[in-house]
Order: sequence, then C-alpha cells, then structure tokens
Amino acid sequence: MDTIIVLDFGGQYCHLISRRVRELGVYCSVLPGNTKIEELKEITRLKGIILSGGAASVYDKTAPKCDERIFKSGIPLLGICYGLHLIAALNGGEVLSGKAGEFGLTLMEIKSQSQILCGLKTPVKVWMNHRDIATKIPAGYNVIASTSSSPIAAFECLAEGIFAVQFHPEVTHTDGGNLILENFVFGICSAKKEWDAASMIGEIKEEISQVIGSRKAIIGLSGGVDSSTAAMLVSNVIGKNLVAVYVDTGLMRQGETEFMKKAFPGLNLTIIDAHERFFDALKGVTEPEMKRKAIGKAFIEVFDEVAGKEKVEILIQGTIYSDRIESGITKNSSNIKSHHNVGGLPEHMRLQIYEPLRLLYKDEVRGIAKTIHLPEEITKRHVFPGPGLGIRIVGEVTEEKAHIARKANQIVEDELKQAKLYDKVWMGFAVLLPIKSVGIQGDSRSYKYPVVVRIIESKDAMTANFSRVPYDVLEKISTRITNEVAEVNRVVYDISNKPPATMEWE
Ligand code: XMP
Repeated sequence: MDTIIVLDFGGQYCHLISRRVRELGVYCSVLPGNTKIEELKEITRLKGIILSGGAASVYDKTAPKCDERIFKSGIPLLGICYGLHLIAALNGGEVLSGKAGEFGLTLMEIKSQSQILCGLKTPVKVWMNHRDIATKIPAGYNVIASTSSSPIAAFECLAEGIFAVQFHPEVTHTDGGNLILENFVFGICSAKKEWDAASMIGEIKEEISQVIGSRKAIIGLSGGVDSSTAAMLVSNVIGKNLVAVYVDTGLMRQGETEFMKKAFPGLNLTIIDAHERFFDALKGVTEPEMKRKAIGKAFIEVFDEVAGKEKVEILIQGTIYSDRIESGITKNSSNIKSHHNVGGLPEHMRLQIYEPLRLLYKDEVRGIAKTIHLPEEITKRHVFPGPGLGIRIVGEVTEEKAHIARKANQIVEDELKQAKLYDKVWMGFAVLLPIKSVGIQGDSRSYKYPVVVRIIESKDAMTANFSRVPYDVLEKISTRITNEVAEVNRVVYDISNKPPATMEWE
C-alpha cells in the first residue's frame, strides 16, 4: 500500500495530519521525528514524508531533530510549522526565535506559482500557531508565500522535492488546507488511493494471532465502541481463549449492566460488581489525575484477580490513537490527561498489555465496527470515558453523587435522542459540581447542587466546539433534571470549546 509518513516533533496537531491524509484515502502513520533513514527506507512504497509541527525552537539544545539524510533521499518532503523551521535551519537557512509569533487566522499572499499551493487563490486565510519564523531560506530554495509577520510563510526546493509551510494545512480553519495536502500526496508524491479502515481488519487479525498465539487474554468491556470492537476482533481470532469482563464500577451509565448482558450474546461475558472497591478507592480523592490513577488501579486489581483464576497472561485494551496522544504516550507530546486505559495504569503489572486498535482514529474504529456488524446501538453510542462518572463528578466521588450524576447524564442522553440530535453531536453529558447554590422550589428556599450540561461537536476528539443546541431542547433538559433529580436546583450550559477546555471536566 502507498504510504505517507508523518515525523512527529511533538505538535498537538501531528496526528491530525495523518488523519487528513488517511481521509484522502492514502495510508499514513506517525513515527518519531528522529527515525533513521534506514528504517524509513524499509517501508514498502513510502511515497512521502511530512515533518510535523512542534513546540520547540530549532536551536534549543533539546529540540527534536530529524535524520538530516532525509533531505537528500529523493523522497518528497513537506514541512509544517516546526517542520519548516527544521528544513530551513538544517539546510543553511535561518530561523529567528520568539520575536514575531502569529496565532490564529492570518491572510497569506501567494508570491509565486507552486505545485504545493496549486488551486489556491491569493490572499488565503491560513491558521498559524508559532513563535519562531524563518528569516533566511537555504540556497536553491524559493519563497512562495508571505504574511505580514512571516515573510517566509512557505517555500520550496523543486530540485530536492522539498516543500514547507509555516501555517497548518491540517487544521480545518485554513482555507484550502485539504487541497494543499492533496497537492502533496497526489500531485507531488503520486500516491494512490488504496486505504480505508476496513482494509485494516485482516492486518489487525493477523497481528492479534501473532501477539496472542495460543495464550489466554482478558478484556474489560465498557459498552463503548472501542472495547467492543477490540473484543469482537480478538474473539474472532482466539475464540474461547478470550475472557470478557464487564466491571460494574458504580460509575457506569444507567442500566448499563442489563445493556451489556443483552449486547454481546456471542461473548462469554463475566459481570463483576465491584462498586464498593471503586468507591473505597476514591474516598477522599479530589485531584483529577489522582482519581484517574485510583480508578485505573482498581480496574487492574479486578482484572488481575480474574486473570489469576483463569490463567490469563494478556490484557487487551481498546485504546485508540487519540487516547495515546492525550496521555502523552506518543513521543514528544505532552500529557494532557491520563486516560485510565493508557497513562493511568500502574507501573508494575503482571499482565502484558496489548492494544490492537492503537493506530486507529475514532471514526475508523466505527467503520470497522460497522464492517464486522456490531449493532448500531453500540457503534453509534456516544463515547463514555473509562473512568466513567468518576470524572463527571468534580471533587470527591461518593455513591450518592454517582447516583445524581447518573440520572442527570441519562436525561441529557434521552433528550438528545428525543430531539434527534444524538447522532449529530459527538457527545452530551452532565457534570455534577461540588458546590451548592440557592434556589426556590415549591415556594420554599432550596440549597442544592448545580449540574453542568455539556454537548459538543467534534470530528476526532482532539478539537471540539460546544453545540448550538436549540434553547427549547436545553430548557427541556434543564426542567427535567431539576424536576427529576431531587438534589439539583440549577442547570448551566457549558459554552467552552476545546481548546482551551477539554470535553470532560476532569
Ligand atoms: P477530553 O476530556 O480529553 O475527552 O477532551 C476527549 C474524549 O475522550 C474521552 N475520555 C476518555 N476515554 N478514558 C477513556 O476511555 C479516559 O480516561 C477518558 N478521558 C476522556 C472523553 O469522553 C471524550 O469523548
């Protein structure tokens, strides 16, 4: 399969580049920025390399660098943001640190015709996110576009097949960003459209068979699409050697245990009621990262116990690519929060972890789930975080608060379905706050908890906007929560985007 490689220099949008390329129908994966040319050349049908953005300054001692031999390898290159700085600095150009940053939308003027900017009309609205700028291009290179703060906003070296842009074509805010990636992938690299997620199924199954062999594996099912898809794929390969466990943590959705019993008739599902263990583990814990770690640890204790009894050696996780980025697992990215199934795991574990979906994005997992005929009630389900309601209760988690949060969450979900919005938004949920405010109910004063309703739209969980849900729907949600959840007298709507907020509150 024709392949494009993104070299990762730590930019939060690094993964988006590979996502966009895959959306174009070309296989793309991310490798560490310093991957050696020998390793790159081993990739069959490598058609092009993209150098990602990153937070460092190229002249810093610790700044990530690429293998300089890629510049003379004849493989087409596209540098983005930090990638542009690297190309300039390592080939005799110059970069100026921290003097003239640009953040957000900027108008860019195209200075000369170029294959990489082909089809764009000047001036172009581009999305910038940088502090450093290139001030001198290497010999033999041409400047092809400028903005007022970045006179060298894009350049090319036709002789070496090297192109670079200071802005981010992978971000949807850049006009024609996709066109630039198309120009690179198809026009410059001549890659063929051969990729779709379903074509990965065979490869994933082969890997499952190689990694697990004749050993036994355990998987924790959460009812979400990721763990369900991982479970079905593994079960298809190893059959009865897969022990599927659903842990009722006391922090799950309403009616979840019954849902799970019905949803997986083909799997040999063990249901474990562990709510006391989880509430004990969370007693007095208020800091979000500590909560995630406490929940992760309790999960592992449960899995270890079952695994010991069943003589299991491997723990299957439904971790997908975006979980890994946000947990700071991919090289150079910083830790935003520890997803309990990745960064939140204890350091010493008896079980070997295996993550068969680790390279896939959410919509790709959904595509696979559909192809292997998982029911729509699972494939279309909103994401529910591994730590469950534990991270939707700000402050200490108690059984009483879990009960309140569960009811409020259910109402948000019900009303989104009722308004036919459920399938249109990324997720909708409720967060219980650890404060109380005054209200008036039934002619008397009340002093109760507020609930935050958060409804968001997103394509890939990495960036998101709050949903402009009609007021009627919000009012219905608010009225139902204050009527039906006795401990709540106020409902507020979260109007923050991601960034700067994350979707979940913790
Ligand atoms: P954030 O809050 O990071 O959430 O913007 C992005 C998406 O990831 C889900 N999420 C999690 N999923 N374990 C999971 O399996 C976790 O620890 C976790 N934390 C957040 C979140 O619900 C949203 O869809």
